[in-house]
Amino acid sequence: MDKLRITGGRPLEGAVRISGAKNAALPVMAATLLAPGVHTLRNVPRLRDTQTFARVLEILGAKIAVDGDLMTIDTQGVNAVEAPYDLVKTMRASIYVLAPLLARFGQSRVSLPGGCAWGPRPVNLHLAGLQAMGAKLEIEHGYIVGRGVKLKGASFGFDVVSVGATVQLMMAAVLAEGTTVLENVALEPDVTALGEVLLACGARIEGLGSRRLVIHGVAGLRPVDATIIPDRIEAATFAAAAAMTGGSIRLERVIPDHFEAALLKLEEAGCTVRRAADSVAVAGPARPRAVDVVTQPFPGFPTDMQAQMIAVCAVASGTSVIEDTIYLDRFTHVPELARLGANIELKGNVAVVKGVSRLSGAQVMATDLRASACLVIAALAAEGETVIDRIYHLDRGYEALETKLAALGATVQRVN
Ligand code: UD1
Repeated sequence: MDKLRITGGRPLEGAVRISGAKNAALPVMAATLLAPGVHTLRNVPRLRDTQTFARVLEILGAKIAVDGDLMTIDTQGVNAVEAPYDLVKTMRASIYVLAPLLARFGQSRVSLPGGCAWGPRPVNLHLAGLQAMGAKLEIEHGYIVGRGVKLKGASFGFDVVSVGATVQLMMAAVLAEGTTVLENVALEPDVTALGEVLLACGARIEGLGSRRLVIHGVAGLRPVDATIIPDRIEAATFAAAAAMTGGSIRLERVIPDHFEAALLKLEEAGCTVRRAADSVAVAGPARPRAVDVVTQPFPGFPTDMQAQMIAVCAVASGTSVIEDTIYLDRFTHVPELARLGANIELKGNVAVVKGVSRLSGAQVMATDLRASACLVIAALAAEGETVIDRIYHLDRGYEALETKLAALGATVQRVN
């Protein structure tokens, strides 16, 4: 199993090109099922999650070719409706194939994802929304089974803002009979990006970028040539690394508005941030200041940056209070940070972080994707050597992380 060995203490310096967004690529890949034919996707990040999703599509009968960050997906020959447990359990977003399969074939056999490292993560809203649109779904032997489904327009309001359920219902509505009104939808850039791709396929969607979507079903959609938006979480993670190491880096090929909440927090912590049209320069202070953070749906501070922000606060002057309101148990990084010398007290979904003047390298274990990123940036700032085990989590969501960090001057090595 691969590990990362990092010798900390060097400020990151230089420029880094940010990859395409994992969380935007996955729904767009699912949406290709809605329009039989050959789709061209550009700026697709080469990650374990995009590979897993490609595998799911292949099992359904799609043909996929990958050339660097270019992915071609031919969905003409799709003829199966089963997304098996073995794949869905490794990546929850596999459930995104559910609505497209129901829309195209009126049938589905998609495994329920089950829990995850940081709690139950239900899919009740996905199911309730599809049922409101007329889909009779049964849970059989752990699978969501639909038969003879004819999706119809409906009004559905989300009582919790959910990225996944919003994406699922948008894909259900574009080919449904009649008009669907979705209230309290998620505004994450990944949702809007999917909406734009669906529009390019010929869908009729009103209200994109607002909390209310009106979607008029169309009879068919055409294949698309689309470019995946930059990964705002990757960008913000590098910005946090600069903040922690007192470094100075330029994030290239980004959309600064997409991670403005993280940039504002880093400024509050003492960073200097210069925003340009498609790049952002971030310079860290000698030592960050403590900041309080509450995670919120977009445009608020993202839960996917909570762990990395705790790492920054671990070396800040003063005490920070960090609350995750989206995932109440998402704190598996806290005991690992303690091994590096961090002083963090957990009270339910609130972490009270008393900044220490320095962390010291140790052996730690990655537990999930963002927890791993948190340990990497903590290791970059720690004195001495840190070895991070189980970094396959990182490979799910950060493209060529160690290569990008090494180019910024970090001492980092992948060891087997
Ligand atoms: C997506 C992101 C993930 C991010 C999360 C929150 C992808 C592939 N993953 O996950 O990186 O951390 O958004 O920004 O884009 N909920 C329900 N019922 C449901 C669905 C969700 O109660 O049916 C709740 C969840 O428990 C959570 C909240 O809604 O408290 C938000 O979750 P959601 O936005 O759905 O997360 P994902 O789409 O799974």
